Amino acid sequence: MIKGDGVGPEVIDSTLKILDALNPPFKYIEFILGYQKWRKTGKAIDQEDIESIKQCKAVLKAPLYTPPVKEKNRTFPSVTLTLRKELNVYANIRPIKTFPGISPKQNIDLILVRENTEGLYSGVERFNGEKAVTERIITRKASKRICKYAFNLALKEKRSKITCVHKTNILKQTCGLFKEIFFETAKHYPSIKAEEMLIDTCAYKLIHSPEVFDVILTTNMFGDILSDEAAGLTGSLGLIGTYNIGDKHGIFEPIHGTAPDIAGKNIANPIGMITAASYMCNYLGLQETGEKIRKAITTVLKNKKFLTPDLGGKSTTTQLTNKIKETLTKL
Ligand code: IPM
Ligand code: MG
Repeated sequence: MIKGDGVGPEVIDSTLKILDALNPPFKYIEFILGYQKWRKTGKAIDQEDIESIKQCKAVLKAPLYTPPVKEKNRTFPSVTLTLRKELNVYANIRPIKTFPGISPKQNIDLILVRENTEGLYSGVERFNGEKAVTERIITRKASKRICKYAFNLALKEKRSKITCVHKTNILKQTCGLFKEIFFETAKHYPSIKAEEMLIDTCAYKLIHSPEVFDVILTTNMFGDILSDEAAGLTGSLGLIGTYNIGDKHGIFEPIHGTAPDIAGKNIANPIGMITAASYMCNYLGLQETGEKIRKAITTVLKNKKFLTPDLGGKSTTTQLTNKIKETLTKL
């Protein structure tokens, strides 16, 4: 468990309250990483942390702060990205579903599958004082495994269509390879419709006619941006949880950031973090528990009485959490 920065500790404490109410068979080990660790030790995360985390069954993680610029003349690595790479959790899955009564749009139920280890977030950058370069790396290997993951997920979730989102008209090499592997993979899954769309068209359609999407599969940065956009359709970035999966590990986190402007005020929406924990339950084989948590969230949102300010309400994090907990115990 990583409590994170900003609103992190508040939303994770809420989440633990919910999990504890269900008596799950797990034990938590807390890791303090990122900026907090860096200020004390000069390192945001070290090899020992990574090795210990690898021993855990799953990682429940709140958002971590990454200073955007150099501090004390040293660049600060994103611990979130470091963990995703080190644990090789190559698939970042972001289910986006609208909530009756709350979301400005209705009838959206899409899954965004984001490649999580390379693309523009490869971390390979250089600057010679005049020219700054970031490499956009797309490999056959990583593209194959994410495409395969997306099709298997579509089968498992009984989805009928995958839209591969790219920009092959401009990014001919990188997006070209990704698209080629997508259609090659699709041949092995004849029951699932494979279609493609340019990233800008997709950004437009997500606002204009989001119900056309079923599963969206895309590269790292496009997925980062589109998932925040898609979250907007549900009513709040604070509602969405995500899971990062590889062959051996899983990291469960909300898609929102540390929100320093509202940190410590007990008004952060804990639902994204709680939803992420519900996916963790599924991953650990506790499907019923996972379902139950998500059902309690939908029920509480539907009656609209316990909403945090991001959803136009006046409830505190604690009040919303307690209501979810109370609803859960009745299910
Ligand atoms: C997300 C976040 C991260 C990302 C940041 C914190 C590195 O925005 O999970 O979407 O870009 O992936
Ligand atoms: Mg993001």
